[in-house]
Amino acid sequence: MKKREKWGSKIGFIMAAAGSAVGLGNIWKFPYTAGENGGGAFVLIYLIFVALIGFSVMLAEFAVGRRKNLAAVGAYKSVDKRWTFAGVLGVLSGLLIMGFYPVVGGWALAYIFKVFNGLLSSPDQIGDVFSSFIVNPTQPLIWMGIYLLLNVVIVSRGVSSGIEKAGKILMPLLFLILIVITIKGLTLKGAFAGVAFLFKPDFSKITAKVLLSALGQAFFSLSLGMGCMITYGSYLDKKENLVSNAGLVTAMDTGVALLAGLAMFPAMFAFNMEPAAGPGLVFVVVPQLFADMGSVGLIFAGLFFLALTVAALTSSVSLLEVVVAYFMDERNMSRIKAVTVSASIMIIMCVLASLSLGGIGPKILGKGLFDVFDLLTDKIFLAIGGLLLAVFAGWKLDKEELRNEVTNGGAVKFGLFGFWYALIKYIIPFTIAIVAASGIYSGFQSGVGGLMLLGVGIIIVLGVFSKKL
Ligand code: PHE
Repeated sequence: MKKREKWGSKIGFIMAAAGSAVGLGNIWKFPYTAGENGGGAFVLIYLIFVALIGFSVMLAEFAVGRRKNLAAVGAYKSVDKRWTFAGVLGVLSGLLIMGFYPVVGGWALAYIFKVFNGLLSSPDQIGDVFSSFIVNPTQPLIWMGIYLLLNVVIVSRGVSSGIEKAGKILMPLLFLILIVITIKGLTLKGAFAGVAFLFKPDFSKITAKVLLSALGQAFFSLSLGMGCMITYGSYLDKKENLVSNAGLVTAMDTGVALLAGLAMFPAMFAFNMEPAAGPGLVFVVVPQLFADMGSVGLIFAGLFFLALTVAALTSSVSLLEVVVAYFMDERNMSRIKAVTVSASIMIIMCVLASLSLGGIGPKILGKGLFDVFDLLTDKIFLAIGGLLLAVFAGWKLDKEELRNEVTNGGAVKFGLFGFWYALIKYIIPFTIAIVAASGIYSGFQSGVGGLMLLGVGIIIVLGVFSKKL
């Protein structure tokens, strides 16, 4: 067997795993999802899910990946062919997320240039510029194409050289700029209402929809439930401490999401914008915030979108990598061929997703494809993928085998092993099942229940044909 590629260094792995986690999910999706779900209560539940479910599932993914030394599908398959579908579901999730993620990545890329092309000079039009840009049938497609191409270039160069370098460079910059934005936002008049909105839970706002959104957001943001961290774990050295790695990545990801929230909401409240403004949030708030700062503002806004683009890239290369690893490991393709095949499918999906925002193209159960890809993955596939992984680790793998892997054969102290194991084996599968079921039930009130059931149906079909996959 070919020797598996390995990470060049420890810091390389952390940066790549954190790079996968920190992305549009934190900076684009988290703020507007929090806004749409009532703020504080959503944030609180999100944090609980991240700490109890997210961290535990990440540790389990690392352990399974490194133990089996195989990417998602192979790891499941090597234990039991009836489980192959759980890995394939992850590959499907990767494909579907890559059916809309590059569209938003393209927006971020486009905004680097828009900022320097006079976007900030008419602040009252910033909102309209965004809404007419994303429904334009050609412009966003070009940016999306360039963005996808960047992914292809990075992933076709292989694990350690490509992903690591991209991960190391601009992440710290993003963090710094978010801090600048936060400080600037907090100094505006009326900003404190935004802080309260984000951190003061109104418990009456907790509904089944809010619970499922928080769960989906936790999985999406931490890159879990689709085999990404299994794949990354399979490239990880036997000596690395999985517990501290999982803890660090979870903490960094959550820190950036909260910081992004703090960067957006105070400014929004100061500008009298609607917290439920939807997917345009970052693209409208950040330029507005810097509009009155002259050329300094230009530079900050430009750097922000540059850093956002890079953060998005380090996430989407990990998504592409899952699909590519599948074609390489399971379909015997060369890396280049695997990248070409995956990217060709993705570009078609992305074009359709982008056009759907302008009302063009096919619909499924009344929803455009951008929403369909997002909803299926964020609300169903990732959470169920996480449930399956937990059941797999808890019930199909041997407890001592897991203990050995997680503690590096006893070298790493992990006093909470028993608690973690109970979470993985019983509590997490149960919790996800309840949250997903009630979320689907409540989805029928908002007209998305049918799509969610379709998602469940797809999983069942994959499960039935598991041995053939
Ligand atoms: N976590 C990434 C983000 O927050 C998205 C992602 C999801 C990446 C799933 C890989 C796997 O942007």
